[in-house]
Amino acid sequence: MTEPRPPHYAVIGHPIAHSRSPAIHAAFAAQAGVALRYEAVLAPLDGFATTLKALRDDGLQGCNVTLPFKPEALAAADLASDRAQLAGAANTLGWTSDARLWADNTDGLGLLRDIEHNAGCKLAGCQLLLLGAGGASSGCLGPLLEARPARLLVWNRSSSKAHELVSRHESLAARLGVQLAALEHLQGAPGRFDVVINGTSAALHSGRLELPEGLLNADGLALDMVYGPASAPFLDWAARAAPGARRRDGLGMLVEQAAEAFQRWHGVRPDTAAVLSQMRAA
Ligand code: ATR
Repeated sequence: MTEPRPPHYAVIGHPIAHSRSPAIHAAFAAQAGVALRYEAVLAPLDGFATTLKALRDDGLQGCNVTLPFKPEALAAADLASDRAQLAGAANTLGWTSDARLWADNTDGLGLLRDIEHNAGCKLAGCQLLLLGAGGASSGCLGPLLEARPARLLVWNRSSSKAHELVSRHESLAARLGVQLAALEHLQGAPGRFDVVINGTSAALHSGRLELPEGLLNADGLALDMVYGPASAPFLDWAARAAPGARRRDGLGMLVEQAAEAFQRWHGVRPDTAAVLSQMRAA
């Protein structure tokens, strides 16, 4: 008799070979004693929906979705969390017991958990600057507002996108009492920020992000949503701008967003500190 196959999970993206999600989910599964198979799947750029359907027909239980398919993942869902709707994108999919596709976005929660829990930096009452208004930033803005910084400014190279992102989140910010606005020019920033988050993809495309030195508080936090060598230009800027400030790349956020997904699928919250050290060492 053949062994039953373990429940099947995946991350779908294009490109996907670099993804660390299979290693992270395998580490969570080993820790929690959950049997699963989690694989990285390359979908053609015009083939997200057909890839998802083929995987589901083959028994897929849930999946993560990464670039460039997060908006399509949201569009495919029958049920979407408020967070995913506000972000306009989903990174976690699963099926209800009556086979409806649900979508959530755990990126912002992962970012928040990395800042507040792993870095021990409370956002309540702080001055926060978010660089970029693309997919990475829009996935995180709602949860960042929910942490109630005193003021959150969004800067983007093309300012119309910063204005669009801000206006989509205006009513949430007002409800939470957070001053939310687009910042037109970094040179004209109103003082220094406690937390500066880089959500641009400048370094991934070998582009230059020109940042003035007076943006970051001496005891502030600079966090790049990307990890590995691509985070170096931004974190090097932070080291020059405020040598005493803490610097983090996006690996903690990646592990934490994965933990949120794992919890939704398996009902168990993994010990992320152990897995984050394992991933840093790898
Ligand atoms: P992602 O999903 O990774 O956020 P995206 O939606 O294409 O990708 O967004 C990329 C972000 O990085 C955008 O905010 C983009 O700015 P524009 O909207 O002006 O294009 C930003 N970005 C990319 N290269 C940049 C550079 N060299 N300098 C500043 N911002 C840059």
